[in-house]
Amino acid sequence: MRPLGLLRLLCLLCLTAAGCSDGPDSYGDDPADLQLPPRGTADFLAWVEEGHYLAWSCEAEAHPPRPRSGHGRNRICSNDALAAAATGEGPYPVGAAAVKEVLDDAGGIRLYAVYRKVEAGDGGDSWYWFEGSRDRVVANGEGDGTCTGCHASAPRDFVFTVVPAS
Ligand code: HEC
Repeated sequence: MRPLGLLRLLCLLCLTAAGCSDGPDSYGDDPADLQLPPRGTADFLAWVEEGHYLAWSCEAEAHPPRPRSGHGRNRICSNDALAAAATGEGPYPVGAAAVKEVLDDAGGIRLYAVYRKVEAGDGGDSWYWFEGSRDRVVANGEGDGTCTGCHASAPRDFVFTVVPAS
């Protein structure tokens, strides 16, 4: 292949990869479901900023990142499906989800992290993962490798924390 051809190919590959890591803005999920964060950057951020997850089971206060955490100071909320499955075994049910507020030094929300079980069974692909803010998207997609590598070491089905229903 001519050098210019190779350069073009490499460029195309890297553009495609960058596009993939941002993921889509919408998956067409229903944003009116207060228990189920819609997937996709635009849909999720609009939904989370409306604060529906604050009616879930939430930690009373923010805490420093726990051991092995890839996150900063944070506060976690579990939805009803996740909280209800807290004492079971094996994979969590489809529809289980958590939202994490990651805070800045002044205590404001710097970004959100979320996962949502989208398929029955094991594996990082059975969860949708998103982390980011309006300025920057770190992860957006099923089985996103930025998240699954570390969450695979969680005690049960990629979940570190379940906030029990109060
Ligand atoms: C290096 C390890 C690591 C990486 C990488 C990581 N996490 Fe986490 N995550 C943790 C740990 C440990 C916790 C437990 C609580 C904490 O962070 O203080 C956690 C907590 C969470 C929670 C709250 C619910 C729970 O199970 O505790 C969500 C949601 C979450 N992570 C999403 C993500 C997403 C989305 C990504 C990818 C962008 C990601 N995480 C990357 C280690 C990691």
